[in-house]
Amino acid sequence: MNKTKGLFITATGTDVGKTYVTGLIVKKMRDAGFNCGYYKGAISGADSVAQSDAGYVNKFAGIGQSEDSLVPYLYKEAVSPHLAAKIENKPIEMAVVKAGYAKNAASFNYLTMEGSGGIVCPIRHDDKEKIQLEDFIKELSLPSLIVADAGLGTINYVVLTVEYMKARNLPIKAIILNNYSGGIMQEDNIKMIEEMTNIKVAALVKKGDTELDIAAEALAAFYE
Ligand SMILES: Nc1ncnc2c1ncn2[C@@H]1O[C@H](COP(=O)(O)OP(=O)(O)O)[C@@H](O)[C@H]1O
Ligand SMILES: [Mg+2]
Repeated sequence: MNKTKGLFITATGTDVGKTYVTGLIVKKMRDAGFNCGYYKGAISGADSVAQSDAGYVNKFAGIGQSEDSLVPYLYKEAVSPHLAAKIENKPIEMAVVKAGYAKNAASFNYLTMEGSGGIVCPIRHDDKEKIQLEDFIKELSLPSLIVADAGLGTINYVVLTVEYMKARNLPIKAIILNNYSGGIMQEDNIKMIEEMTNIKVAALVKKGDTELDIAAEALAAFYE
C-alpha cells in the first residue's frame, strides 16, 4: 500500500508567506527524493495559472505538474474566493476540489495543499451551499502547518489561529515563522508561541531565503 500523505498549509492571514514557504517545503522534499506535489482549491487575483501561487511553486520546486492539476478554480478578481466566484459566476463545488486532490494523489506520495487567505476564509456562500476553507481540510482529513510572520503582533495572530483550529478539531503539526530577522523580540515570539500553543516552531525563514533550515525527513513526518 502506498497511500498518499497530505499536508495543508495555512497562515495567520493573506500575504504572510504561505506560497513562498510552500515553495521552500516542496523544493526541499523533492531535492531529497520525496515525490511531492502541490495543490490549491481556489486561487483569486490571478490572470493565469502560471502567474499564480500554483505556477510559482510548480516552477520554484521544479515539480513539472500540468496547469490543470494544480488548481481547479482560478479567478481574476483579487477578493475572497466566495466573492470572486460570485462575481465571475463560477461557484466552487466541493466534489470538484476533492476530485482534483484525488487525481494528484495518484501521481504523488506527498501532496501539499495551500489554503486561501487565513484559516477563516469563505469559499462559497450562496443560497445553495456554504463552504468554508476548513471544510477542505476536514473533507480531505489533512493535518495543517501554520505560516506566521516572525515580527510584532504575531503572538496574537498565531494564538487566535491555533485556538480556532483546536476548537474545530483541525490538527496542527507545526508553525513556521517567516521574515525572521532575529533580535530579542522575535526570539521571545518563538518562545511565547511555543509555550502558549504547545506547538513547535519548526523553522525560521529569512527574507530572500532559498533553502528551508529543516531536514526533509522532518518535513515528511508532518504529512499524514
Ligand atoms: N521570506 C521571504 N522573502 C522574500 N519575499 C517573501 C518572503 N515571504 C514572502 N515573500 C513575498 O511576499 C509576498 C506575499 O507572500 P506569499 O507567499 O504570496 O503570501 P500568501 O501565500 O500567504 O498570500 C510575495 O510577493 C512573496 O514573494
Ligand atoms: Mg499564496
